Amino acid sequence: MFDLLSVFLAIIIIVIIITIRQNYTRELPGPACRPLIGNLGVFLDIPKIHETFLNLHKQYGNTIELKVFNQKIIVTSDFQIMKEVFLKRDDFIMSTDLFKVLTYFSGPTIIASEGEEWKKRHAKILPLLNHSMIKKNAILVVETALKLAQKIEVGKSINIAPLFHCAGFDIIGSVAFGMELNLVDNPDKKLGNDYLRDIFYIIETGIALRMSLQFMGLEKLWKFPFNAFNKEARAWDNLTKMLKIAIREHENTPIVGDSTNLIYQMLKKTENGHNYSDNEMIADSFAIFMAGQDTSSTILSIFLDILAKNPHIQKRIQQEVDDIYASKPTGWRPSFEDLSEIPYLDNVVKEIFRLYPVAIYASMREVTRDIRINGVNFRKGDKVLLDIYSNHRDPTIFENPGEFNPDRWNSHPNIPLTTFGLGARMCFGKKLATIEIKLMIFILMRHFTFEPDPSKPMRLEVLFVLHPANNQVWLKAKRREHYSFQLE
Ligand code: HEM
Repeated sequence: MFDLLSVFLAIIIIVIIITIRQNYTRELPGPACRPLIGNLGVFLDIPKIHETFLNLHKQYGNTIELKVFNQKIIVTSDFQIMKEVFLKRDDFIMSTDLFKVLTYFSGPTIIASEGEEWKKRHAKILPLLNHSMIKKNAILVVETALKLAQKIEVGKSINIAPLFHCAGFDIIGSVAFGMELNLVDNPDKKLGNDYLRDIFYIIETGIALRMSLQFMGLEKLWKFPFNAFNKEARAWDNLTKMLKIAIREHENTPIVGDSTNLIYQMLKKTENGHNYSDNEMIADSFAIFMAGQDTSSTILSIFLDILAKNPHIQKRIQQEVDDIYASKPTGWRPSFEDLSEIPYLDNVVKEIFRLYPVAIYASMREVTRDIRINGVNFRKGDKVLLDIYSNHRDPTIFENPGEFNPDRWNSHPNIPLTTFGLGARMCFGKKLATIEIKLMIFILMRHFTFEPDPSKPMRLEVLFVLHPANNQVWLKAKRREHYSFQLE
């Protein structure tokens, strides 16, 4: 009895000491730590975490400290600090925790690697984004946008999000795997086709389950023989076989000129003669597919919802688009070059990137040595979460930050945004995503006017990325006078 009491008291004392340490070793402001778990509570309502962080910054300042058990996490929306953290690559390395799940399947990938491994992969993949490749992929985007436009049913409320989802997969499937998925024309193929079913099983069940376990500190269960993981292992096996076939086909069909997709790019020898193995190619194709599959399409769904709610903004874009069409011959299609002629749409895109940067918590770093920036001490081993969402709503940078006002960019065109990160590790798909978003909106605004469906308002939540809850964005489309059945 006495022994049990001693053990109990010892535990209580340890918990009190840990809690006091958590609170008194704090160097930065932040909410008080709860016994043992620290600020774990902050992370429990993940769908609303963007709002929680915004409120914490209002209360405690732009740079706050949270503790989850013994791990210190600095969450900052201070642009000066964010910039330094993004750019000082030796002092702040990529925190591999966030994308560890990708490494689990295939070994190192461009996203979850650091140092020499990352440099090797980056050098190999970067030329894919040269001018000529972006131009060619702009043609693919326009074709996909025209197909999507034909699927839009007018005069009734439709959920636009799954359509963009399919279009996003068609584009990234072609870029990352060199494959024509053609989901816009056949959305049912997602579950009816063997290899697509495997890809979606891995993404929507396997990866989602692993990330949830990791978040709850139960990563050890990744090796547990859950039925879902067995199915996922078979799916990965099939996907690997299918990608190997794609690699062999690409090898046997040499292209003239620039590569249009990642597999061609990776088949080229690098300057130092390094040849990618099949597994290295599969790892990076899959990582790029994962990074690009949901981001641009999610922004597009939100974009249309915002236009539907702001008819005056929609009208101004339509006017700008019509003026361009007016000077072109019948049957003309926009191309990459035409994107330099649309200043108002550019402002609207910037405003969308500011308020809805979707990959809001994709940028996490680990501190490699003690360093002080802008009055804040970073200690070796600290994790730093760069809070893009709150940075873009900082009232000291943006007047009336919550207001959707594209004209703000006329008077302050150069305020930097962190939508895609900054510096060497900046988003690899920035150019592709930007042309995809601009060209899709350009074509849709030529042919349709969108109105909101007030009975089903869009709700945003966080699930890895900021996205419309349940993938639902209900809008009513009306054909404009330019709509033709074949579409221009
Ligand atoms: C609007 C759409 C997108 C947004 C907002 C976005 C945002 C981001 C952000 C914030 C990062 C982290 C940067 C950092 O921590 O320094 C990132 C990384 C990355 N993104 Fe994107 N992304 C988008 C679309 C895409 C697309 C379409 C692709 C593929 C073609 C892509 C591929 C990547 C890759 C490979 C990385 C890792 C780069 C590295 O670690 O070197 N992203 N993205």
